[in-house]
Amino acid sequence: MLPFPQPLPLRLTNSVLRLRGCTGVTSHACTAAGFLRQHVSMHSQGAVAGSQSTSQQTSGSRLQDFFAAARRAVLRGTVNESNPETVTQLANMMGAITLEELGLDEDMVSDPFLGALKLHLRDSRIKYMRIYEDPNLTFGLFCFPAGAVIPLHNHPGMTVFSRLLFGRLRVSAYDWVVQPAAPITSGSARARLVCDAVIEPANPPLVLFPASGGNLHEFTAETPCAVLDLLTPPYVPPERNCTYYRVQRQAMGWPVSLPGTRRPVASQKMRVGDEVELEVFEPPDSFEVVSGCYPGDSVS
Ligand SMILES: [Fe+2]
Repeated sequence: MLPFPQPLPLRLTNSVLRLRGCTGVTSHACTAAGFLRQHVSMHSQGAVAGSQSTSQQTSGSRLQDFFAAARRAVLRGTVNESNPETVTQLANMMGAITLEELGLDEDMVSDPFLGALKLHLRDSRIKYMRIYEDPNLTFGLFCFPAGAVIPLHNHPGMTVFSRLLFGRLRVSAYDWVVQPAAPITSGSARARLVCDAVIEPANPPLVLFPASGGNLHEFTAETPCAVLDLLTPPYVPPERNCTYYRVQRQAMGWPVSLPGTRRPVASQKMRVGDEVELEVFEPPDSFEVVSGCYPGDSVS
């Protein structure tokens, strides 16, 4: 039996979620199945390169091994796009973590709605379960009820690993066409769609970088689902804050709304590689992320 959710710590509210909403999953299985293939290929290579750089000893816990390797790499400053072998190895290790270690069970994969019951996802709110947090990284679980959405948001200067544990999740992700010198916190800017696809647990973990891999993303839970998420460095407002965006539809000549649909008009028309204008916006009050107690093994 899982404990009841507790009040969201202020820091979490302000940083990860005011996020009330920032996870970081990413990347994407884009329509471009090619995007997934790229990840799979990357992971295959990592299996070879793997044992060389990040891992040292094994603890008997895949969760602990991943966390320890990630923290070592973070402290060495090698978790970035310039070190693909390290990133690939970490993604492989994250993919090997068992649901049991996280306090979940494999039945959730075959029945995500059972997972929602076990995780007490009784309403439309997204639940965040913190596993670990320090000044260098944030590690936790995002649990989504069916239909929940984390609006499009950025990860300034971050690398983010995300693994879908159960359920189906639509990921729409963008990168800025011209990388800004500082996060765009007002107005609008041009972005390119790099992924718009539904991912499943069989897909490898996704990785985004400061300027590539879909640094801005939106998540829509097609079923109840859970995402294991590691961000480095963490959100630390006001220096590193989370900003939300939406497609500036008027500028594209599209209607503001399309009666009878929930998805943005832009997403229905866009293809990977298309460019759009993204404008800063404030998420609706209905968007809310609450904290929950992590039921799995601790890491250190
Ligand atoms: Fe995110």
